[in-house]
Amino acid sequence: MLKGKTAVVTGGSRGIGKAIAMAMAKHGADIAIIFYDNRLAAEAVCKEAAQFGVKAEGYQCNVADFEGSKKICDKIISDFGKVDILVNNAGITKDSLILRMSDKDFASVIDVSLKGSFNFIKHLSKSIMRSGSGRIINISSVIGIMGNSGQANYSTAKAGLIGLTKTVAKEFSSRNVTCNAIAPGFIETEMTADLPQTVKDNLLTSIPLKRIGKPQEVANLAVFLASDLSSYITGEVIKVDGGMCI
Ligand code: NAI
Repeated sequence: MLKGKTAVVTGGSRGIGKAIAMAMAKHGADIAIIFYDNRLAAEAVCKEAAQFGVKAEGYQCNVADFEGSKKICDKIISDFGKVDILVNNAGITKDSLILRMSDKDFASVIDVSLKGSFNFIKHLSKSIMRSGSGRIINISSVIGIMGNSGQANYSTAKAGLIGLTKTVAKEFSSRNVTCNAIAPGFIETEMTADLPQTVKDNLLTSIPLKRIGKPQEVANLAVFLASDLSSYITGEVIKVDGGMCI
């Protein structure tokens, strides 16, 4: 479904990003994964993805660093020749109530999740526009739609990503590039692993499908949005949340 395409996935060495990178590789895309510090994990993902007969490379980069991101994006374009698909998945949480949240913790979450996405969109935009059917997928969150106590920084970043998605959809439309956001609900990854059991149990009562989602279930939508099957969908925010945010 994605044969001949090149996909860049930020935060692709674990969790949802890894599932997306692997799913794209399985459907034939060459993949460039961006990792922050875990080189071994990134190499393992590339090795696993290469079994599908695609090119797979890892690149170390702090997505929040504008100049550093540019260097890596230029290197990816030089290594792969082009980029067709960008998945902005890298994100962090630094939760606390506003009364206790430091300006540093507010800023760092915005810098990674929101500005990091802008950086990669900007630096890869020309290549994606040349693709003829470019795809940009931003991983937002239901928290960006609903808000959540203790997550002022995260909900602001994820809501911002929705605005960015709609603007990119409009700005890049003349070059047949679509841009959509995925808003996952509660997905089983290292990001959510440390939540206390009582919080998890409470969350489960608010999910109509009565279970936590799997990274693969987010990746399935990412593959659809990256493929020609989604050619007339742009500027959308699609939830993968078991009904949590109906
Ligand atoms: P995770 O913590 O397992 O993965 C996040 C990835 O981002 C990691 O690979 C990490 O190294 C990378 N990353 C963090 N800071 C970075 C930086 N400055 N530069 C480059 N890479 C960086 O988390 P998970 O759960 O896989 O989350 C992936 C995305 O999905 C995030 O944007 C998260 O906000 C979003 N999401 C997750 C949900 C969940 O329930 N797990 C729910 C809704 C959204």
